[in-house]
Amino acid sequence: MTTVTYEAGAVGFGIDIGGSGIKGAPADLRAGALAAKRFRVPTPEKSTPEAVAACLAEVLLHFEVPTATPVGITFPGIIQHGVVLSSANLHKSWIGTDLAELVRLTTGHRVTVVNDADAAGYAEVRHGAALGQDGVVLVLTLGTGIGSALINDGRLVPNTELGHLEIDGYDAETRASSAVKDREGLSYKVWAKERLQRYFEVVEFLFSPDLFVVGGGVSKDHEKFVPLITTRAPIVPAALRNQAGIIGAAALADRAARELPTPTP
Ligand code: BGC
Repeated sequence: MTTVTYEAGAVGFGIDIGGSGIKGAPADLRAGALAAKRFRVPTPEKSTPEAVAACLAEVLLHFEVPTATPVGITFPGIIQHGVVLSSANLHKSWIGTDLAELVRLTTGHRVTVVNDADAAGYAEVRHGAALGQDGVVLVLTLGTGIGSALINDGRLVPNTELGHLEIDGYDAETRASSAVKDREGLSYKVWAKERLQRYFEVVEFLFSPDLFVVGGGVSKDHEKFVPLITTRAPIVPAALRNQAGIIGAAALADRAARELPTPTP
């Protein structure tokens, strides 16, 4: 148990659901930083909605998050109005699940649910590598899959799913994600030049961003592969690394709480 003072508009809470871990922490909304060390629960092997909901409850309990605090949750799939519409790397029974409603029923918390890359991208634009960048920013997260966030003049266009572009007859993330690099034992050089280069070329042709931000766990090794990718737009590593999802989810939940009237129980 970790005690934190939750103050409306100042400290929010974010949880990042990933393929291997479910990580949560309070977030300092003004600084765009974690307000306490994050708490991680391993993602259950059978990652069904019920099993994951129990982990979310554990994370909220660990930090004694008050029900009035806006909570943002990321999910690695398409999210529309709290409902999961795709699940490439978690259990298929997620598809059609109202995650926001499931969390409300399990924990009593009203939460905002967003795609994981959208949350990370939003955090990078508000507080990280794309801070102050006008125009089109494309954040690509390289991990188990490839996530994308498209932000134009600070406004997020959700659920772009550019990891699933079909390129040269393949679903792009099955050729270019960092999990594929590991699985096939590719060196950073081969991965960058033979997989990522083609991917970034296609994405740049379609979206002409003003800036690319490369995120995901592997971005900690950015100097080994980012300089090997040639794009017209500058390409920079994410600044918030594996905290971006939590910070972005908390920020989006705070924004949603300001926009919507408080529901009556
Ligand atoms: C999913 C996206 C997600 C990305 C990164 C993809 O397989 O379709 O929704 O953002 O992986 O987790």
